[in-house]
Amino acid sequence: MKISSVSVIGAGTMGSGIAQVFAQGELDVALIDVEASYLDRGMTTIAKSLDRLVRKEVLSSGNKDKVLSRIHTSTDLNEAKGSGIVIEAVFENEGVKTELWKQVDGIVGEDSILATNTSSISVTRLGANVTRPERFIGMHFMNPVAVMELVEVIRGLETNDETTKATLELCEKLGKTPVEVNDYPGFVSNRVLLPMINEAVYCLMEGVASRESIDTVMKLGMAHPMGPLALADLIGVDVCLDIMEVLHRDLGDSKYRPCPLLKKMVAAGRLGRKSGRGFYEYG
Ligand code: CAA
Repeated sequence: MKISSVSVIGAGTMGSGIAQVFAQGELDVALIDVEASYLDRGMTTIAKSLDRLVRKEVLSSGNKDKVLSRIHTSTDLNEAKGSGIVIEAVFENEGVKTELWKQVDGIVGEDSILATNTSSISVTRLGANVTRPERFIGMHFMNPVAVMELVEVIRGLETNDETTKATLELCEKLGKTPVEVNDYPGFVSNRVLLPMINEAVYCLMEGVASRESIDTVMKLGMAHPMGPLALADLIGVDVCLDIMEVLHRDLGDSKYRPCPLLKKMVAAGRLGRKSGRGFYEYG
C-alpha cells in the first residue's frame, strides 16, 4: 500500500511534530485544526524545530523550506478526503476523539488508514466509531516527535494485518523505530512512565524532596535525560492527569489514583511549558 499523502488533525505539540516528521519523510501533509490561530502556532513550532535541525546541520536551510512547502493547513475537515492515512492528535479526551472519528469516517476513502496518536485511550473503543475498524490503529509518537525515535504501534482488536504492516513500514520510512503492542490502557509507554511521574508528584506533595532534588535524583541516579517533573511539564501536566485518570478508571486499581497535587496544578492552569508554568517556570 503506497501512502503519499497524510492528514494530521490537531496542530498542538504532538500534531505539529507529527506533521513535521511526515513532511521530512517527503509526504504531502494536510495539517487540520478548528482555528487558524492554532494552525499558525503549529507552523511556528514546526519552523522552530526545523531551525534547530538546521543549526545541528541535520537539515540544510534549503531542505527546511522544502519541508515547510509540503505542509498545507486548513480548518476544513474535508481536506482529509483522499489522504492515504489520517492521524488524529487532538485533546486526550475520549468524547472529543469519538465525535471527530465519526465525522472523519464519513469523509475518507475506504482504503485510508485511520490512526490515533492517543496516549492511553482504548484503540479498540475509538475504532468502534468508524465503518472499517480493521483500518483503525494506534500510532503513538513521543514528545518531542522530531527527536524521539519510538513510535508505539497499537493494534485494536479489529485491526487487520494489512493495516498493521503498512503502518510499521510507514514508521520506518519516517526514520522511526516502530514497536508493536496490544491494546490495553496506557499501552506500554504510559503504563510504565506515568505512574513514575505520578509518584514523583507525590514525593513533591509529601515533602520528600524539592522539585529540583527529585529531578536530579532521577537524572543522575538513573541517567534519565530529564527529571520526571520537568518531563511532566514537557508532556503537559493536564495530559499527565488525563492519562492517570484513564489508567485508574480502565485498570481499576487504586495504585493509579492521580496525585491530588497533579489535580490542583491543572485546576490552577499550571500546565507546564505550554502555559509558561508547571512544576517549573518558563518564560
Ligand atoms: N526539534 C528538533 N530538535 C530538538 C527538539 C525539537 N523539538 N527538542 C530538542 N531537540 C534537540 C536539540 O536540538 C538537541 O540536539 P543536540 O543535542 O544534537 O544539540 C537535543 O535535542 C537536546 O535538546 P536540548 O539540549 O535543547 O535539551 P531539551 O531541553 O530541548 O530536551 C530532550 C531534549 C530531547 C527533550 C531530552 O531531554 C529528552 O529526551 N527528554 C525525555 C523526553 C521523553 O521522555 N519523551 C517521551 C515522553 S512520553 C510521550 O511523549 C508520550 C505521551 O503519550 C505523553
